[in-house]
Amino acid sequence: MILIDGKKEAANLREELKKEVSQLKTKYNKVPGLTVILIGDFTPSQIYVRNKEKSAKEVGLKSEVIKYPDRVEETTILNKIHELNKDETVSGILVQLPLPRHINKKKVIEAIIPEKDVDGFHPMNVGNLSSGYESSVPCTPLGCYLLIKKVEPNLSGKKAVVIGRSNLNGKPMTQLLLKENCTVTITHSKTKDLKGECLKGDIVVAAVGIPELVKGDWIKKDSIVIDVGINKTEKGIVGDVAFDEVSKIAKAITPVPGGVGPMTIACLLKNTIECFKRSQS
Ligand code: GUN
Repeated sequence: MILIDGKKEAANLREELKKEVSQLKTKYNKVPGLTVILIGDFTPSQIYVRNKEKSAKEVGLKSEVIKYPDRVEETTILNKIHELNKDETVSGILVQLPLPRHINKKKVIEAIIPEKDVDGFHPMNVGNLSSGYESSVPCTPLGCYLLIKKVEPNLSGKKAVVIGRSNLNGKPMTQLLLKENCTVTITHSKTKDLKGECLKGDIVVAAVGIPELVKGDWIKKDSIVIDVGINKTEKGIVGDVAFDEVSKIAKAITPVPGGVGPMTIACLLKNTIECFKRSQS
């Protein structure tokens, strides 16, 4: 069984990105910049944003975090985004989700120009990804994709089962696997016989937010299992996959923590660099 080491893969990717930033600095005499907007004091968001800032600095990006209190007005956020859209030192803009309820998520996502949308959430990027054109790709599915490709470089004709249909994970994950010529089944909470569907998968990506949903007898021998779940339970943080059982059956599996999580942040840095490069050409 291969334990997919997301921490190590993310460190390798950051190392590559660091070299690339250094080359870009020589070529253009400037470095890519990432600006993160954080609203409110939701602890997980604060931790994510701190990690993003630390990693961005580590690879040599210009990194900035702008913080607002929970009660900030929507227009303040939209005006800041308009300002950042015009700022040439900012290559990528990310507004940390979730947002307070009085702020319209769709308006905020669409205010960021697609060229600086490092999350890949803007409808233009979503459309480009589904049409097979160049686009920013959401960081978590991009990280999953890179981990899968490390284990199995040729995915053509493989059966992939994605559990979860969110805009953040499930849907973009599906597009990436389709691009690789996988036959993809998207499943979700209303799917009948989820176990039967999972059993058909050469690749199973679980991104549904239900602790240890995927059991050992749901998984085909020799499959690749990617666990996107981060669920708080009384026994600590667990994924969407029952790791102890599934790791006995699968060919390869990501642990939680230390699997997909570290890759997500590394992919955000990658997306920021890609946005910078496109802005220079
Ligand atoms: N909150 C949790 N995951 C994400 C993400 O990938 N992007 C943003 N903007 N917010 C998040």
